[in-house]
Amino acid sequence: MSRPYAEVIGDPIVQSKSPLIHGFWFEALGLDAEYRRTRVTSDGLAAFFAERRADPAWRGCNVTMPHKLAALDLVEDRGGLRGGIGAVNTVVRAEDGALIGTNTDAGGFYAPIAGLDLAGEAVTVVGAGGAARAVLFALARLEVGPVTLLNRTPLKAAGLLARFGLKGRALPLDAPLPPAALLVNASSLGMTGQPPFAPVLDAMPDDAVVYDLVYAPLATPLLAAAEARGLETVDGLAMLVAQAALAFEIFFGTAPPRDRDEELRALLLR
Ligand code: ATR
Repeated sequence: MSRPYAEVIGDPIVQSKSPLIHGFWFEALGLDAEYRRTRVTSDGLAAFFAERRADPAWRGCNVTMPHKLAALDLVEDRGGLRGGIGAVNTVVRAEDGALIGTNTDAGGFYAPIAGLDLAGEAVTVVGAGGAARAVLFALARLEVGPVTLLNRTPLKAAGLLARFGLKGRALPLDAPLPPAALLVNASSLGMTGQPPFAPVLDAMPDDAVVYDLVYAPLATPLLAAAEARGLETVDGLAMLVAQAALAFEIFFGTAPPRDRDEELRALLLR
């Protein structure tokens, strides 16, 4: 059989760091496999899956913008994604050619903060898009306390709180931050080319954690403000690498060497 491969699909796709991450792990493990970057347009998505499902060397793909919702209709939903996160970020080919949709974003979000006990704790989240869905799904599973969800369109945020059965409030972006054990930025704010999100953090307790999913740039205005305030921070590469690690294990049946994360981070920042 030819060399196993996986890939990341999206449109545009040049910006994806996934090939670098998976490539680093292949080399570290001495695995003879490949991870490609493939531009797939919305019009071509169904044909792409039809072609790949016939290829036994294809282990699956990661799915990024704009296909995370559309892919749901093209794969089997054995884990109940449709009623859960509501988006696909990973598709796996079963041996019989069935395509199974899954999502490693919630697990990838959770991994870097697995040491925190958030049960019953107040949490603040910014954003109500695809990334926020994975975050809220994970927070609901952790049985957190009240969630303050800030978004440009608070109505959309209120809908997400209800969807995930979370108690809390939906507020506009300029609302003062309430005290919370964890503050997560799951919006595009702070990304290169976007306005910053740099709220006043005075209400945050001293042991609060600030987690920004944005990784370009890695040092966002939010994380800089958190550090200036002496708060613990988690940056966007932590989640990026953690969700990739979950996908790698699904595709290739072996866990990547996470003891080499420092080297990997240096590679990603180069
Ligand atoms: P992702 O998959 O990365 O979550 P998304 O689904 O497009 O991307 O969601 C982007 C999030 O960032 C949304 O919460 C969006 O706010 P809206 O729900 O009001 O659209 C937010 N966002 C993007 N650009 C923004 C901007 N310029 N100002 C404020 N919020 C912004």
